[in-house]
Amino acid sequence: MRSTVADDFERMWGDLLPVGRSAASGGYFRQPFTTPEVELRSWFVEQCEARGLRVETDAFGNVVGWWDVPSGPSGPGVLTGSHLDSVLDGGAYDGPLGVVSALAAVDVLRSRGFVPARPIGVSVFVEEEGSRFGLACLGSRLAAGALAWDSARSLTDRDGVALGDVVAGGSSSLLDGVATFVELHVEQGRDLVDRGVAIGVGSEIWPHGRYRFDLTGAANHAGTTRMEDRVDPMLTYAFAVLGANKQARLASQRATFGRVEVTPNGTNAVPSRVTAWLDARASSEAALDSLVDGITAQARDRAERDGTDLSVTAESVSGAVAFDPALAARLAADHEGGDWPVIPTAAGHDAGILSAAGIPTAMLFVRNPTGVSHSPAEYAEMDDCVAGVNALAAVLKDLAK
Ligand code: GLV
Ligand code: MN
Ligand code: MN
Repeated sequence: MRSTVADDFERMWGDLLPVGRSAASGGYFRQPFTTPEVELRSWFVEQCEARGLRVETDAFGNVVGWWDVPSGPSGPGVLTGSHLDSVLDGGAYDGPLGVVSALAAVDVLRSRGFVPARPIGVSVFVEEEGSRFGLACLGSRLAAGALAWDSARSLTDRDGVALGDVVAGGSSSLLDGVATFVELHVEQGRDLVDRGVAIGVGSEIWPHGRYRFDLTGAANHAGTTRMEDRVDPMLTYAFAVLGANKQARLASQRATFGRVEVTPNGTNAVPSRVTAWLDARASSEAALDSLVDGITAQARDRAERDGTDLSVTAESVSGAVAFDPALAARLAADHEGGDWPVIPTAAGHDAGILSAAGIPTAMLFVRNPTGVSHSPAEYAEMDDCVAGVNALAAVLKDLAK
């Protein structure tokens, strides 16, 4: 017989599946403050209201639904949740799995008659992916006070629309009284599948950043300009990509150029300008600095030879995060079939922002059979999603009892 947990999860999952889905790729386009993402946050508010959770929103679009303590002083709260926005052409699980699992975990606890001694909140943070305004974990940074509204309001999207034009902004008290945060997330790698376990606990997040490479050259005719006479920023860019890949591989770190804009983007002209974004990640802040410095130095050297100009701007940098070790050990211990493994991740999360803001924070990971993420192919088995809900319910019960 199917479990009611699976039914509950599948009902909510079914609500979300069509929202923002591309018919062409099957992937998701849920950029913040666009119609699909607004629809998802409205859905979340409805789900909270249907459960009698007290909904709080802030001036940035972040939302928390609180399951308050029925009587007496409520004390510090336990927050769980994730995000509903996606990367461009993303998967269904990165973000929504943590939100749907949090609501389902509340349902599990209620169905068992659990009454929390501390409030339990379910959160949705806005623009976690930075896919529209470029800065990762934008909503949680603003809510945690890690980013000032005055610096954020002028961030623009690809069409030149400013953040301040799509959201009111101001200040946030959403995280006041939050004593602990637990984010459940689909694993974005193959650690759990290789170990043959469904659930893991996060130990740390690798430091990572996004760096804009602006390369300028001289537009010219693709047919009549001799190869040796060109000032071609695309050539410098191509060497930068190869250099980044080689340096990251040699250092066992990560470097990706995943986004590029070419001006004027014509087939029969040497471009005048190439703007490309480097995503770099490393196992320590020193290793990240050294990787980015090395890639930049190699690109500069090439730019000198090509006669092009290069400027590099750090647009979004997230330092190393070590999750609360005692909390991780507490979550990982004593489960049927043994302790859950405690594993690092090279993906960024709102949990990293809350942890850096001084809130004791933990992450639960749900096995991903292929490890693929930030892709329409991202997936988790239903049994593992249910295991995730039950794991989160057990953790919330432990923390809020
Ligand atoms: C967020 O998912 C990131 O790691 O870029
Ligand atoms: Mn992501
Ligand atoms: Mn995510």
